[in-house]
Amino acid sequence: MDVLRTKSIEQSLADTEDPEFQLKRRLTALDLTVFGVGVIIGAGIFTLTGRVAQAYAGPAVVFSFVLAAVCCGLAALCYAEFSSTVPVSGSAYTFSYATLGEIVAWIIGWDLLLEMMLGASVVAQGWASYFETFLNQIGVAWPEHLGYGDRFNLAAFLLVALLTALVAYGIKESLRVNLVLVGVKLFIVLFVIVAGIGFINKDNYHPFVPKGQPIEGNEKVLHTPLLQLITGSPQAYGVAGIMFAASLVFFAYIGFDVVATTAEEAANPQRDLPRGIIGSLVICTILYVAVALVITGMVKYSDINPDAALASAFIDRGKDGYATLISAGAVAGLTTVVMTLMIGAVRVTFAMSRDNLLPTAIARTSPKTGTPVLLSVAIGAVVAVVASVTPVGKLEEMVNIGTLTAFFLVSLSVPVLRRNRGDLARSFRVPWSPWLPWLSALICLFLMINLTVETWLRFLIWMVIGFVIYFAYGYRHSRVGRGIGIPARDYSRHDE
Ligand code: ALA
Repeated sequence: MDVLRTKSIEQSLADTEDPEFQLKRRLTALDLTVFGVGVIIGAGIFTLTGRVAQAYAGPAVVFSFVLAAVCCGLAALCYAEFSSTVPVSGSAYTFSYATLGEIVAWIIGWDLLLEMMLGASVVAQGWASYFETFLNQIGVAWPEHLGYGDRFNLAAFLLVALLTALVAYGIKESLRVNLVLVGVKLFIVLFVIVAGIGFINKDNYHPFVPKGQPIEGNEKVLHTPLLQLITGSPQAYGVAGIMFAASLVFFAYIGFDVVATTAEEAANPQRDLPRGIIGSLVICTILYVAVALVITGMVKYSDINPDAALASAFIDRGKDGYATLISAGAVAGLTTVVMTLMIGAVRVTFAMSRDNLLPTAIARTSPKTGTPVLLSVAIGAVVAVVASVTPVGKLEEMVNIGTLTAFFLVSLSVPVLRRNRGDLARSFRVPWSPWLPWLSALICLFLMINLTVETWLRFLIWMVIGFVIYFAYGYRHSRVGRGIGIPARDYSRHDE
């Protein structure tokens, strides 16, 4: 059984020239950075930061953000090298198909789907709660029977339906909407920082790293981070709390990798992709650390509202108007995140179906819009159903573990691709390879084992489903496996 067969980079590039599956190349570096910031800043900073600071880390959540940023920064370097070498749709999935083999590529593609589809659903749920908060703030009550959370979440469903239409209509059009919404979101985050600084009380920073204590309600094995189970000392706060918090706030950075999924639509991918990926990550890290400092400075960590930390901090100070503005901004901001994650999921599935690891028929692009319409609608339907029927607050860790697995494998692939395909032009190179990529893989693994036992079990089930689909369909139909392809051109160039 040849599950480690690889798809040559020439073939991946040649596939993008098949008119039936072609995407239009028209995105610029600015488009890509906007795309990145649009998907990165979302539920992570608007809701998760407060919850994590309150329950697990205190003001030291700042260190958690830095640790998660180091993890993402290293992975971003690896992504940048890959996407500047293999500028085709599908991101890490395509990179690994060229290096580590088909089954690894399938695992990564399957994980990226988990990341993006579930991520979009989680953020759509967050959007729905902020939408409700906003309506409350302006005195409009959302009809009780339409429900949030436990019952059918109509608001989340409608949001996803609307965004699906936009995505199916065309990526450039979606990005134009994105640009306006990203502007609003950046304004709100900066507003929180600037308006909040004046309310900081230095006493709230003492202790900056609260003393470790047993995690409340966390006695059950399932809810204990795997690492803490192994070391036998489950606790919140303290150093272990910072680590656990890092594996949770990692969610706030998810999305920069989605920039790499648009490689095929970038006008100049070699130059612009590394800029887009690293640029958006740097901007977000600075903003996150600033927001974390402001919030834990404004409110004693133990008093932070775990649901809507940013808005509540201002309500506590009698600034209701600010809170209304922030929830309105969150509604706008979370919209772009859901949309961009959905676009990413479409792109990854597109690449997988083009290779016939999933049925090819769903990946055909419409001549009118230049987008895979059927696929966009299918992804939208899954996201809408998950967002509207699953309980809120249960799925974030699953998104993180899927993403970290993909980052882990991408990091390991960098030195492999250098060794196997040193001849390909790379406009961006990770410094100190293989050490930096290996360090990146190690940190990803570390954050993964800081996730809970329950998450690991769920993730294993997801992987088993993935393997069943691969062996029942993908392995037998794979274009690479059956030797079907479009004649490959010679894309090798030597670095100057
Ligand atoms: N990073 C994205 C967010 O925080 C997924 O919502």
